[in-house]
Amino acid sequence: MSVDETDGGSWSTRIGFILAAVGSAIGLGNIWRFPYQVHANGGGAFLIPYFAALLLAGIPVLLVEVWLGSETGLTTPLAIREKFKESEFLGWWAVLNGFIVNAYYVVILGWSAAFIVFALTHGSTLPTGDLFTAFKAFLTSWYPVAGVIVVWAINYVILRLGIEDGLERANKLFVPFIWVLVILLAVRGMLLPSGLDGLEFYLTPDFEALTDPSIWISAFGQIYFTLSVALGIMITYASYQPEDQDITNNAFIIAFANCGFAFLAGFAIFPYLLAADATATDSIGLAFVVLPKAFQTIPFTPIVGAVFFLLLTLAGLSSSLSLAEAQVGPLRQKLGLSRAKTVNAVALAGVTLSLVIALEGPLGLLGSGEAVGDSLQLLSMFDTSSATYTLPMIALGETLIFGWVYGVGAFDGGQRIAEAANAVSDFSIPPRLYAVVLQIVVPTALGYTILSQIVVDGK
Ligand code: PHE
Ligand code: NA
Repeated sequence: MSVDETDGGSWSTRIGFILAAVGSAIGLGNIWRFPYQVHANGGGAFLIPYFAALLLAGIPVLLVEVWLGSETGLTTPLAIREKFKESEFLGWWAVLNGFIVNAYYVVILGWSAAFIVFALTHGSTLPTGDLFTAFKAFLTSWYPVAGVIVVWAINYVILRLGIEDGLERANKLFVPFIWVLVILLAVRGMLLPSGLDGLEFYLTPDFEALTDPSIWISAFGQIYFTLSVALGIMITYASYQPEDQDITNNAFIIAFANCGFAFLAGFAIFPYLLAADATATDSIGLAFVVLPKAFQTIPFTPIVGAVFFLLLTLAGLSSSLSLAEAQVGPLRQKLGLSRAKTVNAVALAGVTLSLVIALEGPLGLLGSGEAVGDSLQLLSMFDTSSATYTLPMIALGETLIFGWVYGVGAFDGGQRIAEAANAVSDFSIPPRLYAVVLQIVVPTALGYTILSQIVVDGK
């Protein structure tokens, strides 16, 4: 194997890996998507399908990825190849998909960074007046282009510094800080007169809703994106650890930290919405139109607004870094290039596609649409194709290869992975149970999710 081990870099501590993985998982999805998903899908009752998806679909695949990276010490495509030669392409597909996700993810982070400045300078987050119109005007301005450049520049510097000095240090700073920020916002929110109304709005359970299959589909559909699974990140991040690290415990810590953060984010959002009597129709509208409007109704608007957008930006930066590293690691290993050269190439390609997406506005190519997100045609096209369709397909591919092909006989794949994880982990998972989940439950749920998405979109 012609891998240049000397130039690779690794985490200096176990906590370095865990924080980076948690930083990857916690992102836009946790803050602007999960809370509204709960509200719209049965309130507190939604936690049932969500936990089902987490335990039956998310964690089992996360475990495969952490095991694969830990055991092989190789980044995504090469790790897959080491176990099953013919499947290397699946890893590259994940890498490519991560490239696409990152390109539009950075565009959104660029808006968010701009909104930190707006919050502090304008007192609200945008010039006054109707915030929907103002946001559309913002999209056609050059701010989003500037935002892309700023965010990519930050990513570039951190990536160039390497795993320990760059990614590990950044995540050690960002991840604890976003917990502080979300707790501050949640506490302030709960102290508002609308605090309890917000809580009720967020969590009042409607168990009736659980009879609707679309709620289960939406839980299973979201779980991979939120855990940063199936884009090659967790394999690559896990490969930067020293040998024989705890696999199972790490996977559970990553998953529960991610979901705990998402749950907390609801407390940091709904009290503000209720204070302004506001509701949202989509995630983008929630973050960039409805919440800024809501912040205007409470004291210290500039501070609250800046804290919220700082939270969104930092949570997203650690995810974006992981998406970029998921390309840097494999390309470097495969081609035997230096880290510096690989980062240059990845950043150049990434910033180019991000700029193309951000230029839709200034070039006057935005569509019209009721929801704010609808007018962003390029961004929604990339989002739908890569996150809604491709991501579950890659997860399905991983499950089939490692559940079925990797084993020699029926239920061997799952059992072998569980036994390998148990050998190095704090606590054990029952191998046969794990095999049934990985080999039967996960592919069934994924197949059903993919098919029903196609049916829904085909209508
Ligand atoms: N998990 C991140 C979020 O919820 C997004 C992400 C997905 C990051 C896939 C990396 C890979 O926002
Ligand atoms: Na993140």
